[in-house]
Parts: sequence; structure tokens; C-alpha cells
Amino acid sequence: MADLTALESKIGEVLGLAMAAQGATEKVGKLVEAEGGHDDLRRTLERMDEEARETEERTTELAGNLDGKKTAILEKARETKQEATEMMSTYLGDDADALEGFEFLTMAEAGEVGHWSIVGKMNERAGVDGLEELVGWVTPIQHKHFEQALTGSIELAADEDPNEPA
Ligand SMILES: [Fe+2]
Repeated sequence: MADLTALESKIGEVLGLAMAAQGATEKVGKLVEAEGGHDDLRRTLERMDEEARETEERTTELAGNLDGKKTAILEKARETKQEATEMMSTYLGDDADALEGFEFLTMAEAGEVGHWSIVGKMNERAGVDGLEELVGWVTPIQHKHFEQALTGSIELAADEDPNEPA
């Protein structure tokens, strides 16, 4: 398999995070659904899921244009997806509630913001074809996801009785 540059490896990571994000929004959506109400949060999660899918599609397309690197980038992406999914299973055990789901999502979205910022910075010198445009499209979306995850966490925290047994 082709060796990846540092930047190509990071592209694999953001792709893997976009794949994992779809599993995360689905899982957290189920936790919210199980508690009932909060239709606004469920709609937000559906939109996040769609945007994660679009991020995956666009990033896969970009990887496909990097001569001979697509397979290795997808391999890196699958590795990252698996690691992120394992992290989610560790964080969200069988008794996880919607608030814990949103806490996890806040961390995951912050991770995406960070990784895309790194890709953008590294690409300033590498100038990979089409990547600046992709970064320009994705970065504000990931910032929005982070804000939405944080806002959702706070909305759910407001419903909690702080004095009830944990
Ligand atoms: Fe995201």
C-alpha cells in the first residue's frame, strides 16, 4: 500500500471522524428518543448526521483524486473510525442517558474542529488540489456542530435535578 504523507494521513483521520460522527449522532439520537421530548435536539442530530455524511462524501472524493493514495487514506479512515467508535462505547455504557450522549458529542465535535484546523494549516504549505476549498466548506460546519453539541448539553443539563442520586 502507498505510503502517506503527514497531511494525507490527517485527511484519513478527518474522513474517519466523519464516518464515526454518523454512528455517534445515531446513537445519541436513540438516547434522546428514549427519554422522550426534545424534538429540537433530534432534528439537530439528524441535520448533523446529514452533514457528516456529506463531509465523508466530499473528503472521499478528494482522496480519490490523490493519485494512488485513495486505498491507503481509506484504510487510515477505517482505523480512525474504529478507534472513535470504541471510544464512544467506552464512554457511553449500557446505562448512558441523553445528557451523557451530548457530552460525548461535544468532545467528538471538538475533535473534528481541531483536526480540520490542523489539515487547513498543513495544507497552507502543501496546497493539495481542492483541499483549501473543502476545508473552507467543512470548518464552519464543524464549528457549528460543536456549538450545537454544547448547547444541547446545556439544554439537557437544565432539565436535570442536581440533587437527585446519580
Ligand atoms: Fe461534526
